[in-house]
Amino acid sequence: MKDGCGREINYLRLSVTDLCDLRCIYCMPESGVKKLDHTSILSVEEIEEIVRTAAGLGITKVRLTGGEPLVRRGIDEIVRRVAGTPGIEEVALTTNGTLLPEKAEMLKAAGVGRVNISLDTLDPDEYRFITRTGNLADALRGIDAALDAGLTPVKINAVLMGGVNDDQIEPLIELTKRENIHVRFIEIMPIGECAGWNKARFIGLGEVTKRVPELRPVGTEGVAELYRKDGYPGTVGLIHPISSHFCPDCNRVRITPDGTMKPCLHSSGEIPLKGLHGAELAAAMRGGIFGKPMRHYLEGGASSDSVRNMNAIGG
Ligand code: 5AD
Ligand code: SF4
Repeated sequence: MKDGCGREINYLRLSVTDLCDLRCIYCMPESGVKKLDHTSILSVEEIEEIVRTAAGLGITKVRLTGGEPLVRRGIDEIVRRVAGTPGIEEVALTTNGTLLPEKAEMLKAAGVGRVNISLDTLDPDEYRFITRTGNLADALRGIDAALDAGLTPVKINAVLMGGVNDDQIEPLIELTKRENIHVRFIEIMPIGECAGWNKARFIGLGEVTKRVPELRPVGTEGVAELYRKDGYPGTVGLIHPISSHFCPDCNRVRITPDGTMKPCLHSSGEIPLKGLHGAELAAAMRGGIFGKPMRHYLEGGASSDSVRNMNAIGG
């Protein structure tokens, strides 16, 4: 359906848990998050009804996110039911990759088309610093598992932080030498954990083309400006979430693990869906989509109005 600004909304980002096996410095507090009690988190049946209702309102693509979606109990069943919903043509998943070695085959069989893997560095010590608890080797095994299972093309998402991982621009770009891997650099957003960080960490993506001037622009894909290194099969994407340039083309709404719809990532507006069924659920979702804000106001250094941390939204 169209929202109140005439944008066609066909993409649902569904966060199935706010828990994660990692503790990335920009996403989670060091101590982790308190587990939502299991009655406040959407059940598999509730997820299925929300997705069915969303499909009735014109959603054709669903991305499962977290936290880390693969730590959610019943993720296999969730994927099967979402992928089996009439009208849902595409199911994707965003993961940190650590659990892909054991889950990639299952995901493919259950109906996931492809995965985005969050990986900010190829340096083991830096990986440990950024994720606080993770091992780079696990994430790298996850990438191989995704490629082997045919969850392709694999997109690697790297959040760029000045003084933290800006030394990794070149090594990450080298991943695009491999078949079926695309790398996308994401400008860090001042939301949740990192809202109060030192300005030096918020570096622009101009740094990428400055350090690797041989990147050639090859067009755009959704919100990413694409580049390619000569002779490499994969593309390098730059995503500027802080610019509101893409708001006029925004096609998505989000659902949090406890069942609230967030029509805009950076707005505090939330529509509670938990407990609603049938016509009531459809009316609430239709209202949420219709009332989607026209744009966000992050430019000029403002912090996001979102009242949640990224781990409860899913990026
Ligand atoms: N700014 C930009 N991207 C972020 N992510 C998490 N927090 C932020 C932030 N503050 C990204 C993760 C992952 C996706 C789920 O969202 O790195 O790629
Ligand atoms: Fe987990 Fe992703 Fe948040 Fe890192 S950014 S703590 S991998 S949810």
